[in-house]
Amino acid sequence: MDIKDHIRGIPDFPKPGILFYDISTLLAHPDAWSVALGRLANDVRKLQPDVLAGVESRGFLVAAPLALKLGCGFVMLRKKGKLPGKTIRHEYSLEYGTDTIEIQEDAIQPGQRVVILDDLLATGGTMCAGVDLLRKVGGNVTGAAAIIELNFLPGRQRLSDMNVPCSTLVAYDD
Ligand code: PRP
Ligand code: MG
Repeated sequence: MDIKDHIRGIPDFPKPGILFYDISTLLAHPDAWSVALGRLANDVRKLQPDVLAGVESRGFLVAAPLALKLGCGFVMLRKKGKLPGKTIRHEYSLEYGTDTIEIQEDAIQPGQRVVILDDLLATGGTMCAGVDLLRKVGGNVTGAAAIIELNFLPGRQRLSDMNVPCSTLVAYDD
């Protein structure tokens, strides 16, 4: 099955000139979604995670079912102001604009192996912010994974610069 058959590109969203890769159609197709999660599970299992971390919001859609499938815990990296208790935050630039994510200080047990998940790796700003936060709370980040990768943006290189290997299911060149 070609996962790309279930992902649509919507031009000029959220801004003119941006081609938005939309996973709504993949999520709406249970057989294709199940295949995609199975492939991600095979990649992520090799990283031997104790915990999967997902980045709000589309990363939750990927990380939560995968964590159950792999028998891992699931940790939320949330947008600013959403998590109760003691948190730490990281502001980062996005493919379009800036954003801030937070994690609860006690989200990870010291030394736990963590893999960070998202739907899409573009500039890598989101994933790298997540890796930084996970490390600050004591996680051993063993890798990253996403459904989609944009080859023309530096996300994979930026993760590599942080010593985080990344696997993705499909890649686009434009
Ligand atoms: C999108 C996407 C990734 C991120 C990728 O999230 O879901 O999380 O951007 O871009 P980057 O690699 O350049 O950081 P967005 O912040 O638009 O929000 P959402 O997941 O809540 O829709
Ligand atoms: Mg996102």
